[in-house]
Amino acid sequence: MLTVAVLGTGLMGTGIAGVLARHGHDVRLFDTDPDASARAAAELSGQATAHRDLRSAVAGADVVVEAVTERLEVKQELFEHADAVNPDALIASNSSVLPISQIAARVSRPERTVGMHWWNPPGLIPVVEVVRGQRTSGETMDRAEDLLRSLGKTPVRVQRDDPGFVGNRLQHALWREAIALVADGVCDADTVDLVVRNTIGLRLAAMGPLENADYVGLDLTLAIHEAVLPSLNADRGPSPLLRGLVMAGNLGAPTGCGFFTWPPGARKAAAQRLAEHVTRQLEGEAQ
Ligand SMILES: NC(=O)c1ccc[n+]([C@@H]2O[C@H](COP(=O)([O-])OP(=O)(O)OC[C@H]3O[C@@H](n4cnc5c(N)ncnc54)[C@H](O)[C@@H]3O)[C@@H](O)[C@H]2O)c1
Repeated sequence: MLTVAVLGTGLMGTGIAGVLARHGHDVRLFDTDPDASARAAAELSGQATAHRDLRSAVAGADVVVEAVTERLEVKQELFEHADAVNPDALIASNSSVLPISQIAARVSRPERTVGMHWWNPPGLIPVVEVVRGQRTSGETMDRAEDLLRSLGKTPVRVQRDDPGFVGNRLQHALWREAIALVADGVCDADTVDLVVRNTIGLRLAAMGPLENADYVGLDLTLAIHEAVLPSLNADRGPSPLLRGLVMAGNLGAPTGCGFFTWPPGARKAAAQRLAEHVTRQLEGEAQ
């Protein structure tokens, strides 16, 4: 049994803490919002302990998992404090896109820091990306992977911490094009999501893009790339359409309007639909 401090007990931190607690680890929770850590402890039926200060959560822990708000300065500061309190723990960040080398820029022993990118919902999605920072040691990579395997997860090793690692680079290449199709008036948001869910989305869980490229033949893949790549969106920054929506306060589900309208209860229903779909897929695979 390990002692694991989970820092940040929102959506991801609570889910990760739940997986750790279910596997018998001693889980400590810390959040700058004490209501959030109390809520998480209650959600986990008391299987984890809420701590009021960072020091008591981190001191003596074997592992620290950071899952706070996605802001580099906030994560850097937290890593610096955790490092000062506990010079021995493995310190992992669940950041979706930020390089672990930057998050760990101010720690004294960066060799024990690592990216540990879980996907939502953390209790269900099997793969966790383990991301090597510029100074992460091989031993730290091994320890992180061993821990994940012991939790029933499938760790995948990412050898360089480019922003977005593997999964989010792929995902956001798709989202950039999806937004561009709408911004350029090619089709509406309903159509983009309908096409993705009912064509490539149906296939992706059974056949990844590189196997699919082989499957159709690389000569065909080459011909398609020659025809289509020059017209794909290659903007280096976010779409003006996306920026405009955010500036207008249209954040999507959190405010009720984005690419779609979200009536009260729709966000919760979407989370449930997602969890049920993933569960069915995983159960199907297990049979
Ligand atoms: N939401 C997702 O689908 C998802 C998936 C994978 C990874 N992530 C990553 O996980 C991390 C957390 O995301 P989330 O969706 O759980 O966010 P969230 O907003 O649900 O929770 C973040 C929590 O961090 C707390 N917090 C902020 N600053 C803190 C600090 N200095 N110390 C302690 N707690 C602090 C907040 O009070 C909040 O409770 C982010 O890095 C995010 O990119 C998110």
